[in-house]
Amino acid sequence: MKLKEGLVEEIASIVGRENCSTRVADLYTYGFDSSIHHHSPDVVVRPSSAEEVSRLMKLASREGIPVVPRGGGTGLCGAAVPIKGGMVMDLTRMNRIKEIRVNDLYCVAEAGVVYDRLNEALSPNKFFFPPTPGSGEACTIGGMVATNASGMRAVKYGATRDYVLGLEVVLADGSIIHVGTNTIKNSSGYQLERLFVGSEGTLGIITEVTLKIAPKPKKSAMVLAAFDRLEDAGKCVSNLISVPLIPSATELMDDICIRAVNKAVQAGLPDVQAICMIEVDGEPEIVAKELKVVESIARQSGASSVQVSDDSKQMAKWTSARKSVMSALSRLGDQLVSVSLADDMAVPISKIPDAVVAFHRIAEENQVIVGTYGHAADGNLHTKMLLDPCSEDSWRRGERAVGQIFDAVISLGGTVTGEHGVGISKAPYMMKERPDAWRTMMAIKKALDPQDILNPGKLMQWEGGIIRDLRYPCRDLR
Ligand code: LAC
Ligand code: ZN
Repeated sequence: MKLKEGLVEEIASIVGRENCSTRVADLYTYGFDSSIHHHSPDVVVRPSSAEEVSRLMKLASREGIPVVPRGGGTGLCGAAVPIKGGMVMDLTRMNRIKEIRVNDLYCVAEAGVVYDRLNEALSPNKFFFPPTPGSGEACTIGGMVATNASGMRAVKYGATRDYVLGLEVVLADGSIIHVGTNTIKNSSGYQLERLFVGSEGTLGIITEVTLKIAPKPKKSAMVLAAFDRLEDAGKCVSNLISVPLIPSATELMDDICIRAVNKAVQAGLPDVQAICMIEVDGEPEIVAKELKVVESIARQSGASSVQVSDDSKQMAKWTSARKSVMSALSRLGDQLVSVSLADDMAVPISKIPDAVVAFHRIAEENQVIVGTYGHAADGNLHTKMLLDPCSEDSWRRGERAVGQIFDAVISLGGTVTGEHGVGISKAPYMMKERPDAWRTMMAIKKALDPQDILNPGKLMQWEGGIIRDLRYPCRDLR
């Protein structure tokens, strides 16, 4: 879209000339997040306060300009890609941690605070904000709320939504509202803070977050169990849960991921069909007891080897090998890149073995390489497809596999996205998953954003397939 004359000057008068850009290079750069999609905005703004965001929203609603908020740009589904152009609002200048109140069990952070920075500030107080997303070095608290992000420790500690006590939000018309409270309990009417969790910028701009905090565990230790059958690794996870034992993390990797990581970063992981990295944490005596249980369950589930460690260097090595899966997969084959398609489904925990077996079958049937890994004990898996980004046929096979994977996930009683959100890449499948709920979502969207300027065209508003507005050479396969 073309911006009206004088509008950029008006925007610059709100945020300062240096925080407003229409340079082609900036527009191109801000057209990406970490997904497969790309679309350039018409203007980029970097506000520093809720008041500036409010003035920008008043201007946007007066002119009918689409606005897409963004944090670290680490999202994997296109939620921060300005698919209809307009204004990208980069909130990373709003990076102040405003309060840490350990005796009230909460902290207050602006939306642009980076996850790891918040935990560095909480650590001397022996507290932490636990969800542990893989992108913790770069992702922001606002983005985590907007997608209900989580990661390795969700099985024991929950996802972002479980920590959101209150929010400051700027609505489409520029009004600033406060939802939720700074108390641990709250039965004061509609739980509106929950409504904004997972809203991906479509209902309002989150500018400040009040988060519950958790005490940091004193000790942790890990088990690395190797399996000759992928299914057994899946069974090990559900056997553990039904002990009952809730590990602090359980990372499953299939042979494709193991091979990729060993090749790319020489991780020296066992060359088997699947591994599980299982972490337990808490008081030292409990950790010691739980380690024994984990070891014995892993063996009973068919593990061919089991390694145990509480050495921080060894544990960091294993964790870093796991964190490198996504990038390592891109280096597994010539001309193939690892793309985020069908990337973070979740199923009931007991269905993990069925899910991993179904994904392998679907990959084979469609002749695509699919690496399967993920947090497993919370029912959340990742699949990454290795495609030739220059080949339409490769994308088409990938797209077909995505549809079949999500059909399998839905029939197992799962969800198409456990932690990354919907954006563009999962929009049609979210509608399939929620046939009786998406109209209610639409009604809420209409009530809060009648002009349809907040991240328009996403989630239940997306039309068509997902192989569109690609960042790769095959740009648009509708
Ligand atoms: C991970 C991201 C992709 O778990 O969610 O590595
Ligand atoms: Zn993950």
